[in-house]
Amino acid sequence: MISFAAERRWIAAGIVLVVAWCGPCAAQEQRRGFYTPPSADAIHAVVAEHGMVVAQEKIAARIGADVLRRGGNAVDAAVATGFAMAVTYPRAGNIGGGGFMVIHSREHAEDVAIDYRETAPAATTPGMFLGADGKPDIAKSRDSALSIGVPGTVAGLTLALEKYGSGKFTLAALLQPAIDLARDGFVLTDDGADTLPDWHRRLARWPASAKIFSRPDGTSLREGDRLVQTDLAATLSAIAEQGPRGFYEGPVPEKLVKAIGDAGGIMTSDDLKSYQAVIRAPVRGSYRGYDIVSMPQPSSGGVVLLETLNILEGFPMHEMKQGSAPSLHLLIEAMKRAYADRARYLGDPAFISAPVATLISKDYAAKQRAGIDPDHATPWTDALSATPPHEGSNTTHFSVVDSMGNAVSNTYTLNFSYGVGLVADGTGVLLNNELDDFTAAPGASNAFGLVGFEANLPGPGKRPLSSMAPTIVLKDNKPVLVTGSPGGSRIISTVLQVIVNVLDYSMNVAAAVDAPRLHHQWLPDEVRIERGFADDTIAELKAKGHHVVEPLGQTSANSIAVTDYGLLGAPDPRSRGAEAAGQ
Ligand code: DON
Repeated sequence: MISFAAERRWIAAGIVLVVAWCGPCAAQEQRRGFYTPPSADAIHAVVAEHGMVVAQEKIAARIGADVLRRGGNAVDAAVATGFAMAVTYPRAGNIGGGGFMVIHSREHAEDVAIDYRETAPAATTPGMFLGADGKPDIAKSRDSALSIGVPGTVAGLTLALEKYGSGKFTLAALLQPAIDLARDGFVLTDDGADTLPDWHRRLARWPASAKIFSRPDGTSLREGDRLVQTDLAATLSAIAEQGPRGFYEGPVPEKLVKAIGDAGGIMTSDDLKSYQAVIRAPVRGSYRGYDIVSMPQPSSGGVVLLETLNILEGFPMHEMKQGSAPSLHLLIEAMKRAYADRARYLGDPAFISAPVATLISKDYAAKQRAGIDPDHATPWTDALSATPPHEGSNTTHFSVVDSMGNAVSNTYTLNFSYGVGLVADGTGVLLNNELDDFTAAPGASNAFGLVGFEANLPGPGKRPLSSMAPTIVLKDNKPVLVTGSPGGSRIISTVLQVIVNVLDYSMNVAAAVDAPRLHHQWLPDEVRIERGFADDTIAELKAKGHHVVEPLGQTSANSIAVTDYGLLGAPDPRSRGAEAAGQ
């Protein structure tokens, strides 16, 4: 259990810990990407005794918490929340995309990672995202039906339930709230209302999508409108009745294949029928006596996170003030090195062999650390082309802890907000554009500016390299922190900073999540920052040679800390609607 001084102080002061942020002003600022966090002392976590779900959308968070209340375990709750968010948070919650779930199962005495990342269709070729001139064509990899990977979410959530659920709930029972919400509709609010109008034009390229997300006059649904998804309710019912076969075999995949084919894509019913979620051993490491359990390849998340933590472990971070230039400098230098290794080595382990054991070793970190100059930024004068991170894309992360000692850290995505924008007619399934996470050509970058090489070229049946990093921190084999985030390339640096804030700086989890974040991903060679850092800190970083740029695109680290005082939930205040639902 974590027993941090700051948390003790609050409890001693008798402060009632409730959701204490997300006021309309902050939300306005968040929408514009200029969120300025309040001071750490003003930030309170949400407390629960028996179980908690922290998710980006409140209806779905409450559905998960209700499952916990009725005796379900963390996996049952995660499955209910995951399916519910496919309805209530179409920006990133999904059954038309994919993701990763890291589970600490006390019942099975194991930590596992469920990989339900999308796969490339069998007809994929390495040059699929190149234009006639042989150069990467981002319209193909981001905006066209060629970008759609075979969805993995239904396989992943059902596999998780089958293997690690409590057995007390059927799949149909956990799907029912999602089915009801899709059929009856719900009132659009919070982050959904904030983002849908911006993405509506992209969705409306396809009539089946326009029909669902538009008002009768053809303009976007807005705050207060009811979003009804009748076809999605039918698809979810098919899954409730037949399990994953309801999605991967029969009429649903026929409709998916037709819609994708009509839009110029190459997915076949065989691609869908042969999709498999995979149970993998998580990557494991340690940081200052805590065990870090995170997502292995095909995500780079766990490897990059462990590499950065290993580098930092050799520095006395706690002696440097949190958020100070010396501390931030080391974070940046560690990120820079680990993200460079990401670009060089990582990809789908079924296709490439990456030196993971070396990358996450303490010896390798020591060598990396030796090259860090405390006073100067390491210049990265590589000739690779790079573009700034694409802003405004989305993914979503939720964390779950139950009263039995199980924990789930789940991040799933359509890649961009609302994916490629195509709803397959007659299914209600909004499809991803995940295949942009491949490297279109060696040295090219994806929408998040992440450069890659041969290891991550497109290939049939291959999973594109991800940055999603659902993570569980353990002490004495018990969860103490569950975290993760959306944000493309920025996911890993976000998770890193939450962990460092909690473990090195003893910040309560809400303050740790709230604190301004920065990001370096090797290329482009720049430090992206959020608002909230002191001017003189930024000046100091610049004096060390860092190229500091604003703003940093949005992330949202919905986290839970397990403490002596109960479960402390930290819904990230950067976008409206996140909630810690507990009991
Ligand atoms: O898997 C990945 O790394 C990306 N497709 C995630 C995209 C994402 O987080 C977008 N959110 N801002």
